[in-house]
Amino acid sequence: MSLKGVDDFNWRLRKLNETTTIKPFYSGDEDLDDFLLSDAVAYYKQRLAVTYIIETRTKTVAYFTLSNDSIRRDVDLKTWNKINRKVPNSKRKGNYPAVKIGRLAVGKEYARGGFGEFIISFVKNKYRENFGDRSAGCRFITVDSYGTATDFYQKQGFKFFTEKDEGKDTRIMYFDMLSQA
Ligand SMILES: CC(C)(COP(=O)(O)OP(=O)(O)OC[C@H]1O[C@@H](n2cnc3c(N)ncnc32)[C@H](O)[C@@H]1OP(=O)(O)O)[C@@H](O)C(=O)NCCC(=O)NCCS
Repeated sequence: MSLKGVDDFNWRLRKLNETTTIKPFYSGDEDLDDFLLSDAVAYYKQRLAVTYIIETRTKTVAYFTLSNDSIRRDVDLKTWNKINRKVPNSKRKGNYPAVKIGRLAVGKEYARGGFGEFIISFVKNKYRENFGDRSAGCRFITVDSYGTATDFYQKQGFKFFTEKDEGKDTRIMYFDMLSQA
């Protein structure tokens, strides 16, 4: 994967904490920009979301947030049956553990440069290949995707939960950690 505009040795991914100084960020989406610059630390302190930042020495390149989530029976019966069929009969439950990508944004100048794909791979690996420490069960990744970003998530192997949110501003999507994508 080639990453546009940033030398391979000149950027890093790190987890935000209470004392992180956030470097300038502009994705063009006011809500996403505001969250990082004004709310991310408060969400961290309240234990509502952990923010991960990709940055150079001077700028924020991209960020995303992760929170615990679950997929529940009540979302959409058709999808639920599809999901349930993948779980052995004796292990079936009314909900399954997941991790939610609450927010994800790539700076405008780095868009279509591979960072979005890199971030999704990072999350998949964190909960799939690195499952060795078994700190908690987590079968799915979920996201409430902007309508404009659903093609991006589909390319990363995500599926729609329901047809009921078709045409809405955001659509619920999920990725099964046991899928081959
Ligand atoms: C959507 C977003 C995260 C994608 O990140 P990115 O770094 O630009 O995407 P990548 O360069 O990794 O693209 C990976 C693939 O998805 C495609 N893609 C990226 N954004 C896309 C979009 N909005 N629509 C359709 N395809 C898209 C790319 O063309 C590429 O396809 P390829 O593998 O066939 O070449 C980024 O554009 C962004 O931050 N957008 C604004 C905020 C937003 O919509 N966030 C999602 C909120 S849920």
